[in-house]
Amino acid sequence: MTNRPGENYSYTNNFPYDPSVGNTPIPGALLWSALSLIVLLAGIAIVLLMFGKFDYLGWISTRQHVHPHLLPGQASAGQLALVKFFVVMALLFLMQTLVGGAVAHYRADPGSFYGFQLEGLFPSNLMRTWHLQTAVFWIATAYVAAALFLGRSLRKDEPGWFAGWVHLLFGAFIVVIGGSLLGEWAGISQMLGQWWFWLGNQRWEYLELGRLWQYLLIVGLLVWFAILVKLVQPHILSEPSTKLLVSLFLLASLAIPVFYIPALFFGAKTNFTVVDT
Ligand code: HEM
Repeated sequence: MTNRPGENYSYTNNFPYDPSVGNTPIPGALLWSALSLIVLLAGIAIVLLMFGKFDYLGWISTRQHVHPHLLPGQASAGQLALVKFFVVMALLFLMQTLVGGAVAHYRADPGSFYGFQLEGLFPSNLMRTWHLQTAVFWIATAYVAAALFLGRSLRKDEPGWFAGWVHLLFGAFIVVIGGSLLGEWAGISQMLGQWWFWLGNQRWEYLELGRLWQYLLIVGLLVWFAILVKLVQPHILSEPSTKLLVSLFLLASLAIPVFYIPALFFGAKTNFTVVDT
């Protein structure tokens, strides 16, 4: 352990924890951790109290009635079609946390999972891959569904095609999410032979999924963007008061597939530094 000059604890306050080499938390670390949590909670409480007590703080202080666009119990076909995206998002999040627990377990006790040889079924690198890929997917699913929901709530009527495209997009998402997660499993289990790069696991952190799934994901996200454009186009984009904000909403949405495209600019044998950059 590298202690600070004149102290009996290290520069990292004895982190990481390992009692076998005397790395145990110093009293100050415990005290300041507890204090910072208390100050954070107290700070949030004070802000909420102020905003609740003084109505000239915050956003709605003009005392005008803002009629909500979304009323409970009055969902359209398209809004109902979106519900399943949020269910999948919650399931992916649950899977991520459970897999995260398994990843932590592999670190702490690599030999066995409570007496069961879990790595025979789910190798640790697969769990690590799934932990990151389920995160990418639940976040992407949440963005996609929330933007469609928001886009729909920007207008009063719902175009007839909307619900059908939401169903179709959902089917495509299930194929890409399910296919890529299973592909990673098959790839890591050496079952895909030559196809590991295309269907299995590319192994780049956060871009573990096979190249085919990447292409499909980009196509899906571009279709999603086209749906958003169609949805907000007719009235809202021509309305001066909302034009700027809606344009920003669309640009931000387009940025998601566009920022993902550089993930195609390398192959299986490209130098690591090039890929990482
Ligand atoms: C109960 C919930 C969770 C547990 C138990 C957990 C556990 C872990 C563990 C043990 C690692 C280290 C893996 C390794 O070193 O090989 C890890 C890495 C990671 N986790 Fe989680 N995790 C949880 C939730 C989350 C959530 C909600 C997110 C993001 C939305 C997340 C994102 C990540 C990322 C990005 C890494 C990789 C970090 C890196 O290598 O730089 N985790 N997680």
